[in-house]
Amino acid sequence: MKNTAAKGTQDILPEISSAWEHIEDKFREICQLYGYEEIRTPTFEHTEVFARGVGETSDVVQKEMYTFEDKGNRSITLRPEGTAGIVRSFIENGMNSLAFPVRLFYEITAFRYENVQKGRYREFHQLGVEAFGAEGPFIDAEMLAMLQHFFKALGLKQINLEINSLGTPESRAVYRETLLGYLRPHKNELCEDCQARMEENPLRVLDCKNDHCHEITKSAPLILDYLDEESEAHFNKLQELLDNLGVEYKVNPKIVRGLDYYSKTVFEFISENVGTQGTICGGGRYDGLIKLMGGQDTPGIGFALGEERLLLELEAQGVLRNDRPVADVFIASLDDEALEAAQKLSQELRYLGIRAQYELTGRSLKAQMKYAGKQGAKNLIVLGGDELSEGKAAVRSLVEKDKAEHEFDLDHVEVLADYLKN
Ligand code: HAM
Repeated sequence: MKNTAAKGTQDILPEISSAWEHIEDKFREICQLYGYEEIRTPTFEHTEVFARGVGETSDVVQKEMYTFEDKGNRSITLRPEGTAGIVRSFIENGMNSLAFPVRLFYEITAFRYENVQKGRYREFHQLGVEAFGAEGPFIDAEMLAMLQHFFKALGLKQINLEINSLGTPESRAVYRETLLGYLRPHKNELCEDCQARMEENPLRVLDCKNDHCHEITKSAPLILDYLDEESEAHFNKLQELLDNLGVEYKVNPKIVRGLDYYSKTVFEFISENVGTQGTICGGGRYDGLIKLMGGQDTPGIGFALGEERLLLELEAQGVLRNDRPVADVFIASLDDEALEAAQKLSQELRYLGIRAQYELTGRSLKAQMKYAGKQGAKNLIVLGGDELSEGKAAVRSLVEKDKAEHEFDLDHVEVLADYLKN
């Protein structure tokens, strides 16, 4: 039996879980400010959803999916990302009859069979949004401004946003041929991966991290020179709106994204702190996807952020917030009778919103006090025969050593609760 977590997975232990909660709470809060509502779709889907949705030529579909046959001989896949399943749900649940734009956010685990390294896991967590039914560049700009808002709310100082446009399928087809014409004479110099996928998906060669490929693509034709009028106008307006909203960005014509569904705007937030790939967040517009997956022609745009990578970035910038909850009060007890009273008092205090703890493992008083200190409890109450017979006990601060003890009446728990709240 293997008593270790499976490769590429990790336990998120209590010592760090508040940092995760903080990020997720902030994300939810910001999403709601912008009118997004949560959607939860299944962890697994029919394989077809991803094969079609994410795209047959993507690495994700070709190499990285956790696919298996279930007992009913269906081909099932653990979601490698959120968008395809949400588009499936959008269509299946008739969401195109809702008022547009339909704004959805999600906090999910996703699964990809990848080479494990810093910032790259086989089970990972994504925070994302999808917005359906808004065609113009306003929502693109708003989404990037919202991401900037989120990063600022987390305290990040420096985040690099890079944007590009992949144009419409028609303009991209023209560019694809031009790029292929450029790449073919260099085919033998490209890395193995790029040689294999060049004919099928030449755009991916542009974002290959291999030094040789990088060198070759330096003088490759640029997609921005091949945009049709509509895509160009969309992209220009987007930049104008970003300037207007004070969102900083860099145009990078080599951003192509790894999934097949994108059209027009694409973007990535990039950092050196999060591993070789460096992308904390990626997204873009996918105007053809809903139709491709069997729905009515509806524009869409979204992004997903890798939570593990975001945590690495927060840590690198020294703004990781990990406020573990501490007890407002620890109620020590001297004997069994006092322990019962401590349990009851804790229960009453908890109903009044106080985080109360008491002794549960039979420690001596000295050990209880040490334990309370170690747990970071803010206050201490000791209950024994005297306190119970007099119906009074004293609160002592464990953080402010000079603070005077405060006596309170055991019959007036609400007075004690008020005191402990301050
Ligand atoms: P993606 O670029 O494949 O896009 O993933 C988005 C983010 O998920 C990445 O930027 C990265 O932070 C994180 N991520 C991806 N793979 C891993 C991994 N193996 N380990 C850790 N983190 C990872 C999507 O998934 C699209 N669905 C985004 C989107 C939404 N586009 C439109 N709507």
